[in-house]
Amino acid sequence: METDRILLRPWRESDAEALFKYASDPDVGPRAGWPPHKSVEESLEIIRTVFHNDTNWAIELKATGEAIGAIGYGPSCDCNLPTREGEPLCGYWIAKPYWNQGICTEALRLMLDHIRKATEIKSLISGHFIDNPASGRVMEKCGFVPTGETCIDESQYQGKDRPIRVLRLIL
Ligand SMILES: CC(C)(COP(=O)(O)OP(=O)(O)OC[C@H]1O[C@@H](n2cnc3c(N)ncnc32)[C@H](O)[C@@H]1OP(=O)(O)O)[C@@H](O)C(=O)NCCC(=O)NCCS
Repeated sequence: METDRILLRPWRESDAEALFKYASDPDVGPRAGWPPHKSVEESLEIIRTVFHNDTNWAIELKATGEAIGAIGYGPSCDCNLPTREGEPLCGYWIAKPYWNQGICTEALRLMLDHIRKATEIKSLISGHFIDNPASGRVMEKCGFVPTGETCIDESQYQGKDRPIRVLRLIL
C-alpha cells in the first residue's frame, strides 16, 4: 500500500533502531496508552511479537526508507471500549518530527482502502484520550464518527481516570 510519500509495509527486524529512536519519545507512546521504549532490544522484541502479523504495518517515509510510525488493527483490547461483536480496534502513531504534515491521515486512508477491498470487516472502533485531540482529528478526516466517551481501565499505561473519546467508522 503506498502513496507518493509513504509506504505501508510489514515491520522488519532492521527497523529496530528507528523504532527505538521514535518510540522512546515520551510525547508519543503515553498519548496512545503505552510506555516509551527503553532500549533497542525492547523495540526489536515488539517487532517480533506485537507487530508480527498481517494487520500491523510500518509507515515508511519513501524519501528516507525509514519507518516513522505504525498503523494497524486487531482484536479489541481489554480496555473498556464499547465494541460490537467482532469489531476490530485500530490504532496508529507517527514520529514527532513528522507530526502535522498529514502523514497519519494518509496512512489511515491507505489502510481503510485495504480493509474495504480485502476484508469483510463492517466497522472499526477507535478512541483517543480527550487531551489528545490531534488523533481524533485524524479519525474524523477519515470518516469516523464520535459515539461517546468512556474511561479506560488501569491496564493501559497512564490510563487510570483518563477519559477517552470513542469513534466508529462504518465501512
Ligand atoms: C495523533 C498523531 C498520530 C497524528 O499524526 P499526524 O501525522 O500529525 O496527523 P495529521 O497531520 O494527518 O493530522 C493531524 C490533525 O490534527 C490537528 N491537530 C494537531 N494538533 C491539534 C490540537 N492540539 N488540537 C486539535 N487539532 C490538532 C492538525 O491540525 C491536523 O488536522 P487538520 O489537517 O484538519 O489541520 C500523532 O500526533 C501521534 O503519533 N501522536 C502520539 C501517538 C498518538 O496519539 N497516537 C494515537 C493514539 S489514539
